[in-house]
Amino acid sequence: MYYLAPSILAADFGNLASDIQAVDQAGAEYIHLDVMDGVFVPSISFGMPVIASVRSCTQRIFDVHLMITEPIRYIDEFVKAGADIITVHVEACEDVKATLQKIKDSGVKAGIALSPKTKPEAIFPYLNMVDLVLVMSVEPGFGGQKYIEGSEDKVAAIKAEIDRCDLQIDLSVDGGINKDNAAKVLDQGANVLVAGSSVYRGDIAGNVRDFLEIFERKNHQT
Ligand code: DX5
Ligand code: ZN
Repeated sequence: MYYLAPSILAADFGNLASDIQAVDQAGAEYIHLDVMDGVFVPSISFGMPVIASVRSCTQRIFDVHLMITEPIRYIDEFVKAGADIITVHVEACEDVKATLQKIKDSGVKAGIALSPKTKPEAIFPYLNMVDLVLVMSVEPGFGGQKYIEGSEDKVAAIKAEIDRCDLQIDLSVDGGINKDNAAKVLDQGANVLVAGSSVYRGDIAGNVRDFLEIFERKNHQT
C-alpha cells in the first residue's frame, strides 16, 4: 500500500484545522507533523499542545516526526497528544533501542529516521524494532528545500535490507518530494511519501489527487 503524508509545516498555521481537513477529505491517509527543537535542528516548529489541539479535527494517522534531541524524554507526552506513529532520529538518541522500546511500550508505532549524511547501515540494527523507516531527502530543519539527488539510492539500500530480513516496514521519504520525483522513489521501494510544499502550495485537493494518481499508476504497474 502507498500512503501520502502531507506535512503540515507547509500549511497555514492560522487555519491549521481546515488545512488538515482539506488533505483528509482529498484522501491523504497520514498527517505528517514535524516537531523541531532548535537544538537537533536550527529551527523551532511546534510541540505537544498544537498536536493535541488538532487531534480532534481528523481521524487520519498522526505521523509525528521528532527532530529533537533525546526524544525519549517526551514520548509519553506525544502519545498523550495523539500521535499514532512516533519517529525519532538515529542521530538524536543516546540509546536508540531504549527510545524505540519506550515508543512501542506506549502502544504506538515506532519509526526511525536518518539524515542525508547518515549511512543506511546506521539504522540496520534497529529494523526489527520499527514499523517505519524515514529517509530524509533534505537536511532536516526546514520545509521547501530541494530533493537531494541520489536519496533514492539510500531508499533502495534500505529496502534491500528490509526484504533480506523479511520484515514488513513502511519506507517513507521526506524532503523535496513532488510530482516529478515521486515515481522514482516509489520505484526504489518507498511506500510513504511525505510532502509539504508540493501539497500545500496551490490547489491542495488537486495536489493530493495528483499524488494519489501516481500511486494508482504504480499499483497498476506491479
Ligand atoms: C523537514 C521536514 C519535512 C518537510 C517537508 O525537516 O521533516 O517533513 O516539512 O517539506 P517539503 O515537502 O516542503 O520539503
Ligand atoms: Zn518530516
